[in-house]
Amino acid sequence: MDHDECTRHTPPSLNRRDFLKRSSAGVAGAALLGPSAAAAPGIVSAPTELVFTFSPDDSGTLRTLIDAFNRQHEGAIHVTWRKMPRTSDAYFQQLQSAFAAPEPDIDVIGADVVWTAELARNGWVADLSQRFHRDYNPDDFLHEALGSASHQFRIWGVPWYTDAGMLFYRRDLLLRNDFTTPPRTWDELKEMAQTILHNEDVAYGFVFQGDAYEGGVTNACEYIWNAGGRIMTRSARLASEPGGQIEPPNVINVDTPEAARGLNIARSMVTSGVAPPEVVSFREQDTWEAFLGGQAVFMRHWPFAYGLVGDPRLSQLDPEQIGITSVPAADASRPRYSCLGGWNLMISAAASPARQEAAWTFIRFATAAKQQKDRALGGGYLPSHRMLYDDPEVEGAIPVVDLGRSAIRNARSRPASPYYSRMSPRIADAFTRVLRGDQTGDEATQHLARELRTILRQSSN
Ligand code: GLC
Repeated sequence: MDHDECTRHTPPSLNRRDFLKRSSAGVAGAALLGPSAAAAPGIVSAPTELVFTFSPDDSGTLRTLIDAFNRQHEGAIHVTWRKMPRTSDAYFQQLQSAFAAPEPDIDVIGADVVWTAELARNGWVADLSQRFHRDYNPDDFLHEALGSASHQFRIWGVPWYTDAGMLFYRRDLLLRNDFTTPPRTWDELKEMAQTILHNEDVAYGFVFQGDAYEGGVTNACEYIWNAGGRIMTRSARLASEPGGQIEPPNVINVDTPEAARGLNIARSMVTSGVAPPEVVSFREQDTWEAFLGGQAVFMRHWPFAYGLVGDPRLSQLDPEQIGITSVPAADASRPRYSCLGGWNLMISAAASPARQEAAWTFIRFATAAKQQKDRALGGGYLPSHRMLYDDPEVEGAIPVVDLGRSAIRNARSRPASPYYSRMSPRIADAFTRVLRGDQTGDEATQHLARELRTILRQSSN
């Protein structure tokens, strides 16, 4: 477990902005003068101090990465990790406040894939297209991950790690109850969970993220998509998909019987006793604590939950007790979509040119294959680098990577919109209302469609 504090290396007599200006000027000046000048006696160049925002990391692998970077760049660049809230939406709100300040004191941002359009449109992050094409080969990245860092044909972030929703299950409990394959449909999941709840000493059949926050949105999307529903048409026309129609972009189409059915299935998890009523307030940590504590048969989660299995302080299960499969669908004939998640590294547009240069050095380090491999092995974070999916060491050590690749191929994105931060709470609330039994799937999807259309209408005025 990581207990990092946000340490400052700013001398108390200078305010941080002045200090940064001086130190980055020092580094830039030294760079212009060349290496011998940088080392000349009498010239004291302080390191460029970078503030990197990201949520806490239970695997400890991010602390290791930052420490390794700081050691390698000692005297030149120093990265301080500013801990942001664990949940994506609370983190985004803090970024909004930081960027409302006249001089935002953030340099590198670990950014959720759903933020790209909004961060770019608000002018908060730098366009990295030129640097990216100079220093990376786009084909080295998973297509989906790079797509999540792009907006209007420009690249705003470097894919750091990717995510796709998955179903974790207790292989030992399924086998002991004669279920030799994991469920493909929600009905199969319910049936297995009910049998196992009856026969075994386990508290919950299924746990997932049902709270009204960004994690709830990802679960809602999977229930809706896997029943044949949609939320919004894509921003690009995909006529090339099998049977694909040319769709007008960005049209809200959540008010359908399929989407309503998806949400009703989620509610049926609670009414059938398969999921506990508390699931309406469960977030990622509640769910992995329950599952890794041996209290649940099934769990919907991200691959990183597998990375916690090796830590006896966090998990009572052994890797052999756990199986992983795709998120189920409403019918066996339907595709089983995962919600695409993941995080990209971006640079604040407000950072000085020298700090942007130093930030790029950090991003190149953090996204290099070596660091991605270490984070995959130590934390279960799915790499954005294509080649690591064929790396025998990675494949052998973490089965989640194998399924991860196919889950990402079958992943869908949440609505890619510059107004996403207004849309997301509406989707989350609709999900929670149905889970609580306050509205039916039909009522909630009709209401949600009206709200989302209003947001898009107001935003385009
Ligand atoms: C994971 C995903 C991210 C998503 C979040 C929701 O961190 O990578 O994309 O928004 O979970 O809780």
